[in-house]
Amino acid sequence: MTIRLGDTAPDFTADSTAGTINFHEYLGNSWGVLFSHPKDYTPVCTTELGAVAKLKTEFDKRDVKVVGLSVDSVEDHNGWAADIEETQGVALNFPLLADPDKKVAELYDMIHPNASETFTVRSVFVIGPDKSVKLSITYPASTGRNFDELMRVIDSLQLTANHSVATPQNWKDGDDVIIVPTMSDEDAKEKFPKGWKALKPYLRVTPQPNR
Ligand code: BEZ
Repeated sequence: MTIRLGDTAPDFTADSTAGTINFHEYLGNSWGVLFSHPKDYTPVCTTELGAVAKLKTEFDKRDVKVVGLSVDSVEDHNGWAADIEETQGVALNFPLLADPDKKVAELYDMIHPNASETFTVRSVFVIGPDKSVKLSITYPASTGRNFDELMRVIDSLQLTANHSVATPQNWKDGDDVIIVPTMSDEDAKEKFPKGWKALKPYLRVTPQPNR
Protein backbone atom coordinates (compact mmCIF):
# COMPACT_ATOMS: atom_id res chain seq x y z
CA MET A 1 0.00 0.00 0.00
CA THR A 2 1.36 3.42 -0.91
CA ILE A 3 1.30 5.85 1.99
CA ARG A 4 1.13 9.54 1.24
CA LEU A 5 1.54 12.57 3.47
CA GLY A 6 -1.72 13.34 5.23
CA ASP A 7 -2.92 9.70 5.11
CA THR A 8 -3.85 8.01 8.36
CA ALA A 9 -0.92 5.84 9.42
CA PRO A 10 -2.16 2.24 9.13
CA ASP A 11 -2.84 0.62 12.49
CA PHE A 12 -1.57 -2.86 13.36
CA THR A 13 -0.89 -5.19 16.24
CA ALA A 14 2.53 -6.84 16.31
CA ASP A 15 5.01 -8.50 18.67
CA SER A 16 7.99 -6.45 19.75
CA THR A 17 10.89 -6.46 22.17
CA ALA A 18 8.53 -4.62 24.55
CA GLY A 19 5.65 -7.11 24.18
CA THR A 20 2.61 -6.95 21.91
CA ILE A 21 1.96 -3.47 20.52
CA ASN A 22 -1.18 -2.00 19.10
CA PHE A 23 0.36 0.86 17.16
CA HIS A 24 -2.31 3.58 17.51
CA GLU A 25 -2.96 2.72 21.15
CA TYR A 26 0.78 2.76 21.85
CA LEU A 27 1.20 6.22 20.30
CA GLY A 28 -1.77 7.65 22.23
CA ASN A 29 -1.70 11.44 21.80
CA SER A 30 2.04 11.59 21.21
CA TRP A 31 3.96 12.07 17.98
CA GLY A 32 5.44 8.89 16.53
CA VAL A 33 8.39 7.70 14.47
CA LEU A 34 8.23 4.32 12.75
CA PHE A 35 11.46 3.25 11.05
CA SER A 36 12.40 0.01 9.35
CA HIS A 37 15.61 -2.02 9.13
CA PRO A 38 16.56 -4.51 6.43
CA LYS A 39 17.58 -7.34 8.76
CA ASP A 40 18.85 -8.25 12.23
CA TYR A 41 22.58 -8.63 12.80
CA THR A 42 23.50 -6.20 10.02
CA PRO A 43 26.18 -3.54 10.51
CA VAL A 44 24.51 -0.29 9.42
CA CYS A 45 21.30 -1.10 11.33
CA THR A 46 23.34 -1.82 14.46
CA THR A 47 24.79 1.70 14.36
CA GLU A 48 21.38 3.25 13.62
CA LEU A 49 19.62 1.57 16.53
CA GLY A 50 22.39 2.72 18.86
CA ALA A 51 22.13 6.28 17.52
CA VAL A 52 18.38 6.41 18.09
CA ALA A 53 18.69 4.95 21.60
CA LYS A 54 21.19 7.73 22.43
CA LEU A 55 18.61 10.34 21.31
CA LYS A 56 15.91 9.14 23.73
CA THR A 57 15.98 12.32 25.85
CA GLU A 58 15.56 14.44 22.71
CA PHE A 59 12.61 12.36 21.51
CA ASP A 60 11.04 12.48 24.99
CA LYS A 61 11.42 16.30 25.10
CA ARG A 62 9.40 16.49 21.90
CA ASP A 63 6.83 13.89 23.07
CA VAL A 64 7.80 11.50 20.27
CA LYS A 65 7.44 7.73 20.69
CA VAL A 66 9.87 5.78 18.53
CA VAL A 67 9.15 2.30 17.15
CA GLY A 68 11.65 0.31 15.07
CA LEU A 69 10.90 -2.63 12.79
CA SER A 70 12.96 -5.49 11.48
CA VAL A 71 11.40 -8.49 9.78
CA ASP A 72 13.08 -11.05 12.07
CA SER A 73 11.69 -12.61 15.28
CA VAL A 74 11.64 -11.18 18.81
CA GLU A 75 14.11 -13.93 19.77
CA ASP A 76 16.55 -12.70 17.11
CA HIS A 77 15.94 -9.09 18.15
CA ASN A 78 16.81 -9.92 21.76
CA GLY A 79 20.07 -11.57 20.75
CA TRP A 80 20.93 -8.63 18.49
CA ALA A 81 20.05 -6.13 21.24
CA ALA A 82 22.94 -7.51 23.30
CA ASP A 83 25.31 -6.83 20.38
CA ILE A 84 23.90 -3.30 20.00
CA GLU A 85 24.52 -2.58 23.67
CA GLU A 86 28.03 -4.04 23.48
CA THR A 87 29.12 -2.24 20.31
CA GLN A 88 27.18 1.06 20.55
CA GLY A 89 27.42 1.51 24.34
CA VAL A 90 23.69 1.97 24.81
CA ALA A 91 20.79 -0.43 25.37
CA LEU A 92 17.70 -0.42 23.12
CA ASN A 93 15.18 1.81 24.91
CA PHE A 94 12.29 1.69 22.44
CA PRO A 95 10.30 -1.24 21.00
CA LEU A 96 11.66 -3.09 17.98
CA LEU A 97 8.79 -4.78 16.13
CA ALA A 98 9.15 -8.35 14.92
CA ASP A 99 7.58 -8.80 11.51
CA PRO A 100 8.51 -12.29 10.26
CA ASP A 101 5.39 -12.55 8.10
CA LYS A 102 6.08 -9.00 6.75
CA LYS A 103 2.56 -7.88 7.64
CA VAL A 104 3.62 -4.42 8.83
CA ALA A 105 6.31 -4.10 6.14
CA GLU A 106 3.68 -4.66 3.46
CA LEU A 107 1.16 -2.37 5.14
CA TYR A 108 3.73 0.44 5.02
CA ASP A 109 5.21 -0.47 1.60
CA MET A 110 8.63 -1.05 3.17
CA ILE A 111 9.63 -3.79 0.73
CA HIS A 112 10.71 -2.44 -2.65
CA PRO A 113 11.09 -5.62 -4.73
CA ASN A 114 13.39 -4.07 -7.31
CA ALA A 115 15.80 -3.20 -4.49
CA SER A 116 15.32 -6.48 -2.59
CA GLU A 117 12.60 -9.13 -2.59
CA THR A 118 13.05 -9.91 1.09
CA PHE A 119 14.73 -7.01 2.93
CA THR A 120 12.84 -3.89 3.94
CA VAL A 121 14.35 -0.62 2.79
CA ARG A 122 15.14 2.06 5.39
CA SER A 123 11.76 3.75 5.64
CA VAL A 124 11.03 6.50 8.14
CA PHE A 125 7.57 7.80 8.94
CA VAL A 126 6.78 10.67 11.29
CA ILE A 127 3.22 10.52 12.56
CA GLY A 128 1.35 13.39 14.18
CA PRO A 129 -0.84 13.17 17.29
CA ASP A 130 -3.84 12.97 14.91
CA LYS A 131 -2.26 9.75 13.46
CA SER A 132 -1.70 11.34 10.08
CA VAL A 133 1.59 10.83 8.27
CA LYS A 134 3.65 14.04 8.38
CA LEU A 135 6.88 12.83 6.80
CA SER A 136 8.05 9.83 4.83
CA ILE A 137 11.65 9.25 3.71
CA THR A 138 13.15 6.17 2.11
CA TYR A 139 16.87 5.41 2.25
CA PRO A 140 18.70 2.52 0.61
CA ALA A 141 19.89 -0.37 2.79
CA SER A 142 23.53 0.65 2.37
CA THR A 143 23.12 4.21 3.75
CA GLY A 144 22.61 4.87 7.45
CA ARG A 145 20.09 7.60 8.20
CA ASN A 146 20.85 11.08 9.50
CA PHE A 147 18.88 11.28 12.75
CA ASP A 148 19.85 14.92 13.33
CA GLU A 149 17.90 15.65 10.15
CA LEU A 150 14.96 13.65 11.49
CA MET A 151 15.00 15.72 14.69
CA ARG A 152 15.22 18.93 12.62
CA VAL A 153 12.11 17.96 10.64
CA ILE A 154 10.23 17.03 13.83
CA ASP A 155 11.10 20.47 15.25
CA SER A 156 9.86 22.10 12.05
CA LEU A 157 6.63 20.05 12.02
CA GLN A 158 5.95 20.91 15.65
CA LEU A 159 6.55 24.62 14.98
CA THR A 160 4.04 24.48 12.15
CA ALA A 161 1.50 22.62 14.30
CA ASN A 162 1.89 24.90 17.33
CA HIS A 163 2.82 28.31 15.88
CA SER A 164 1.64 28.43 12.23
CA VAL A 165 5.13 28.95 10.84
CA ALA A 166 7.10 27.16 8.14
CA THR A 167 10.89 26.80 8.07
CA PRO A 168 13.19 27.87 5.23
CA GLN A 169 15.94 25.88 3.50
CA ASN A 170 18.54 24.46 5.86
CA TRP A 171 16.71 25.94 8.86
CA LYS A 172 18.18 25.13 12.26
CA ASP A 173 16.54 25.47 15.67
CA GLY A 174 16.83 29.15 16.64
CA ASP A 175 16.93 30.56 13.09
CA ASP A 176 14.21 32.85 11.79
CA VAL A 177 11.08 31.20 10.41
CA ILE A 178 8.41 32.04 7.83
CA ILE A 179 4.81 32.97 8.58
CA VAL A 180 2.57 30.51 6.70
CA PRO A 181 1.18 32.15 3.56
CA THR A 182 -2.40 31.23 4.48
CA MET A 183 -2.30 33.65 7.43
CA SER A 184 -3.46 37.23 6.81
CA ASP A 185 -1.34 40.18 7.95
CA GLU A 186 -4.16 41.07 10.34
CA ASP A 187 -4.02 37.68 12.07
CA ALA A 188 -0.22 37.69 11.96
CA LYS A 189 -0.14 40.99 13.92
CA GLU A 190 -1.88 39.26 16.80
CA LYS A 191 0.09 36.04 16.60
CA PHE A 192 3.58 37.50 16.09
CA PRO A 193 3.97 40.47 18.45
CA LYS A 194 7.69 40.70 17.59
CA GLY A 195 6.62 41.59 14.04
CA TRP A 196 8.11 40.36 10.78
CA LYS A 197 10.12 41.46 7.80
CA ALA A 198 8.18 41.18 4.53
CA LEU A 199 10.70 40.54 1.73
CA LYS A 200 7.64 40.00 -0.48
CA PRO A 201 4.00 39.96 0.63
CA TYR A 202 4.20 36.13 0.59
CA LEU A 203 7.66 35.93 2.23
CA ARG A 204 7.33 37.16 5.81
CA VAL A 205 10.25 36.33 8.10
CA THR A 206 9.89 36.39 11.88
CA PRO A 207 11.97 35.24 14.86
CA GLN A 208 11.30 31.66 15.97
CA PRO A 209 8.23 32.08 18.22
CA ASN A 210 9.09 29.52 20.91
CA ARG A 211 12.48 31.07 21.65
C1 BEZ B 1 23.25 -3.10 7.02
O1 BEZ B 1 22.38 -2.84 7.83
O2 BEZ B 1 24.43 -3.00 7.29
C2 BEZ B 1 22.88 -3.53 5.62
C3 BEZ B 1 21.73 -4.27 5.40
C4 BEZ B 1 21.42 -4.68 4.12
C5 BEZ B 1 22.27 -4.33 3.06
C6 BEZ B 1 23.41 -3.57 3.29
C7 BEZ B 1 23.73 -3.17 4.58
